[in-house]
Amino acid sequence: MREGYEHLGEIVVSEEDIRKRTAELAAELAADYSERVPLLVGVLKGALIFMGDLIRELDIPLEIDMMAISSYGSATSTSGVVRIIKDLDTDLTDRHVLIVEDIVDSGLTLSYLKRSLLARNPASLEVCALLVKDGVRRADQEVRYAGFHIPPRFVVGYGLDMNERYRNLRDVYIYTGPEAS
Ligand code: IMP
Ligand code: MG
Repeated sequence: MREGYEHLGEIVVSEEDIRKRTAELAAELAADYSERVPLLVGVLKGALIFMGDLIRELDIPLEIDMMAISSYGSATSTSGVVRIIKDLDTDLTDRHVLIVEDIVDSGLTLSYLKRSLLARNPASLEVCALLVKDGVRRADQEVRYAGFHIPPRFVVGYGLDMNERYRNLRDVYIYTGPEAS
């Protein structure tokens, strides 16, 4: 096995599961946004791949923008203190904004992000997250569109990283290496 890949545990969500669920989410979104043009805001870098797959399933007029944030804390847990590294190019005033996230763990990142985007007076603000970790005390963040609920383990693949590695993997794996919680 190639060095680095020995830390991959079982597959929690397969490429095929993701493909099917993404199509379902897209159908739900297409219905909900049938009379509004959503602005999908992808959170870099983790949501990059999910965003790409989701918008290709979404057969409605839409716009996208991306922002990059960084959360302070250890590699495998968030402190809740978030900094915007790359802000949006788009004015959110009166827009129907949909945040596209890779994973919601404690919900602290999302909580910060929502507060920050709500201050820009969008017409609506919803969240679509591919993964939501179960059994975590969450900063009360409603994720209207959730792909999968997964156990509270550290996972990698399909955009998700451990120290910037593994984002390119097609499936989502449990990470079993050092610093995993
Ligand atoms: P939260 O603030 O605890 O909800 O953490 C959210 C952010 O931490 C996500 O946007 C990810 O970037 C990162 N994160 C949380 N859990 C994982 C994981 O299991 N694998 C990779 N990144 C994660
Ligand atoms: Mg990350």
